[in-house]
Formats: sequence, C-alpha cells, structure tokens
Amino acid sequence: MKSLIKALTEITGPSGYEEKIRDFIIDQIKDHVDNFEVDALGNLIVRKGNKASNGKVIMLAAHLDEIGIMITHVDANGFARFSTLGGVYPRNMAGGRVRFLNGDSGIIGMEPGGTIKSVPDIAKMYVDFGVTTKKDCPVNIGDVACFERTFTDLGDRIVAKAMDDRVGIAILIELLKNAKTGPNQIVGVFTTQEEVGTRGAASAAFGVMPDIGIAIDVTITGDTPNANLMEVALGKGPAIKIKDSGMISDPKVVKWMVETATHAKIPFQREILAAGWTDAKAIQVSRDGVPAGCISIPCRYVHSPSEMIDINDVTNAIKLLSNLVSKTISI
Ligand code: CO
Ligand code: ZN
Repeated sequence: MKSLIKALTEITGPSGYEEKIRDFIIDQIKDHVDNFEVDALGNLIVRKGNKASNGKVIMLAAHLDEIGIMITHVDANGFARFSTLGGVYPRNMAGGRVRFLNGDSGIIGMEPGGTIKSVPDIAKMYVDFGVTTKKDCPVNIGDVACFERTFTDLGDRIVAKAMDDRVGIAILIELLKNAKTGPNQIVGVFTTQEEVGTRGAASAAFGVMPDIGIAIDVTITGDTPNANLMEVALGKGPAIKIKDSGMISDPKVVKWMVETATHAKIPFQREILAAGWTDAKAIQVSRDGVPAGCISIPCRYVHSPSEMIDINDVTNAIKLLSNLVSKTISI
C-alpha cells in the first residue's frame, strides 16, 4: 500500500491536467473491473458488479487533481509569474520548488520587502529556472506545475505532497481490485478539478445517477501543538464526516457508516470540518439529490508540500468501505 501511495504522490497532476495520474490508474485497475470510461471533463468512471433488485448504485469518488500553479507572465530576464490552481497558501511556497508537467523544475523566489518574518502574497513571487533571458525560459503562458517534494516514510506515518487526494485514490484502487459488491454496483469515479470547486464530480454524478454517493478524501486534524479544537487525530481510524462547510452529510448515511464500523469493530472518528469540503458536496445536490456522505483520512498540514497521514487509517478505511459496499443497504 505504501508503495502505491508513493507512486501516486510522485505524479504531477494539477487541476485540469490529470492525464498522467488517470493513465496510471487505468493501468492499475483495468483487469479488475467490468468496464471503464473517461468522460468529457476527464473523470475516470469505473464500474464493478451489477445492481440486483435489492441493491444500490454506489458512487465512490476520489479526486485525481492536486493543487498547483499556472504560469501567467515571463519577463525579459526569464522570471515567470504565476497564479494558483486551488488552495495554494503563500506561506507554503517560500523556498520551495515546483515541477512542470514535462518534468522541468523551477524554484520559487520572491521580491524583497516586508519583514524577515512576513510572507508576501503570490503576486510578489516568481519561478526562477536559472536562465537569464525570456528566450531560454522553458515555460510558456498557461503551463502548469505542482510542488516538488519527495515521499518520506516515517513508519506508521508517511509524508508526501498531494496526499490530498492520492491517498483516497489508493483506497479506491484497492477497493475496486478486491471488494465484493454483493447486490450493489460500485461506480468508482476518479474525479477532475476538485481543488477548483468539485467540478468533475458535479458532471460525473449527473451522468452516473447514483443511489448513494460517498467521497473519499482527506480532512484536517486537531492533534498538533495549539491546533484548533477538532476531535480528529492521526491513527484513530477513518473519519465519518457529519458536516463540513459545504455539506451536511445525510444522517441516514452517517448512521449506516457508524453502525457498519461498530459492528465490524473498525475504529472510526466523527468528523466536523469547519472550513473545506469534498466531492460529496457536488454529488449530494446532483439532479434531484443524492444521499451522500464522506470517509475522510485524517491528514496533517493539508495543502502543504508535506502532508502527513497514518497508514493504519488507510487500512481501516478500506475495511470500512469494503463492509459498506458488500452488503444489502437499507437507506
Ligand atoms: Co484539497
Ligand atoms: Zn482533497
């Protein structure tokens, strides 16, 4: 599992440019599922199992994209300005490096000014490719990049850029490979453009018309020094989302998840996230509405180049989801 997560986090795939990560997943799952398709927005939609008369179509969504940057201007000396794709915080850029889709790397520099402790905004930052002229600058307007940072294995805890949401992708791959579907059909959707507003999930849910929708994504934790009050911690089990700033999970879905975890003796946590949301928000309000919920992997330092998770939460999330999709569901 760790090696799958490592491989997934090492791929560059900012919002709108998810082709490489999508191709990697197709390679992983194609021999284990009934069929797959890629829709107009680039969502990878994978089906497994057949819906019986007492079964449900369950849409499980994990997003392909990660936060990134897009080049907006190159000056005469070859320094490139950029805008952001998704929630990129200036404080996480300083001293960092970015990698473009074609593999080129650049370093993030910033204009002088402010104090030694202050963080300038993105408009005062630029990518330095080590060149001296515009002609030698390897990128063009519209080229995209993501954080460049290696995967680190700390034992139970592992760290990488784009753990949001490659850990969700890894869980969904594992589930599609191994889960029994019982009377249900699993529709695994690897969604595009989540980080810029759950756009892929919105169109995918419209097409899939699920009976139940579940997102698999990360959530923040309250277990670091002076963290905001939050019950979720690393290593205490997958989090069952009750509410975030984009969605109130369907209470019937929450009850189903809690009862399933309790019955199967799988540790879990109850999640209320003050700021942020997932693909479940888009699924819930698709067409005439879908009962929706979310299984979250606790993650420290979300949207930084060093997002940390606990591998036991991943294992338990797979167990919980396998139990959820394999039985007759009465919702
Ligand atoms: Co995110
Ligand atoms: Zn996410």
